[in-house]
Amino acid sequence: MTKSIKVFAPATVANVTCGFDILGFSVDHPGDEVIVKLSNSNTTMRKKVNNTDLSRSISFQNIKISKITGDNKDLPLDPAQNTAAVAIAHFLKHIKSNAHVEIILHKKMPLGSGLGSSAASAAAAVVAINELLGANLSRTQLVPFAMEGERAACGVAHADNVAPSILGGFVLIRSYTPLDIIKIPTPNDLYCSIIHPHVIVATKDARNIIKSTVPLTNAITQSGNVAGLIAGLMLPDYSLIARSMHDVIIEPVRAILFPGFLEVKQIALASGALGVGISGSGPSIFALSKNKITANKVANVMKNAFHRLGIDNETFVSKINQVGAKILE
Ligand code: HSE
Repeated sequence: MTKSIKVFAPATVANVTCGFDILGFSVDHPGDEVIVKLSNSNTTMRKKVNNTDLSRSISFQNIKISKITGDNKDLPLDPAQNTAAVAIAHFLKHIKSNAHVEIILHKKMPLGSGLGSSAASAAAAVVAINELLGANLSRTQLVPFAMEGERAACGVAHADNVAPSILGGFVLIRSYTPLDIIKIPTPNDLYCSIIHPHVIVATKDARNIIKSTVPLTNAITQSGNVAGLIAGLMLPDYSLIARSMHDVIIEPVRAILFPGFLEVKQIALASGALGVGISGSGPSIFALSKNKITANKVANVMKNAFHRLGIDNETFVSKINQVGAKILE
């Protein structure tokens, strides 16, 4: 049996405008690398476990995070507070394993960026432990464990980042109870431009400002747009994709959190983007475009717009990643 494994899991764009908590896709880069090792049972056990977290019914005694890089020392080594460790703990409980596990996290993407950083770590971790223990769960079966990582991170076990990070592609979560995840085919020349302005907004905070009820007229508009976006991707019909990428429920509320968002959105649309929205809970902004040339142009104009606003940023341009989490070694 392999004793150590390294897995890359990609960043993801959740919500994709109209699909709050139900749509997400993965990109080629950036992403996280997670190394999971099976240590022998004599390894010192962690005695101090955070008992106040949402995962208290599971055990972290056999799970140790030995190292985290690339996080600016922002992430705690306490496994009960780490999405990768929480996901592994739930997985071990499910398969009734008492394996002793060591985790090394290489954060290769910005934290609190709206690119699914916490999700990528959890996604890589569950793919790694599944492989290491030869448990043979399918990629889709791994999603609920990674969702527990999200619950630990922001209080809600949403799947729109972890599912595309594990499975790759553009994903629809048709239902949460029971979980029903569907991969949606996307056109080959669909590209994503992402800009990450260097401001931090925690998903928890971005979720707290959302209203819990929706006027019927907005629900109707939003349902039409979700259906239109899925149909547009599958046909494919770029004009339909563009007409459907509108969020009348979440974006109007969250936009106030992100200085420059509305301005940058207008500039990106004027430069040929099909649609533009907040990536996940922000602050990153994403745009979909019909080809790489347009996607690069959109990334550039967004970059310049943020520079004019005096906000440092970085951009990424990628196709929709179809592979998801990948075993590296
Ligand atoms: N659907 C989640 C949200 C994604 O918008 O809060 C978080 O990345």
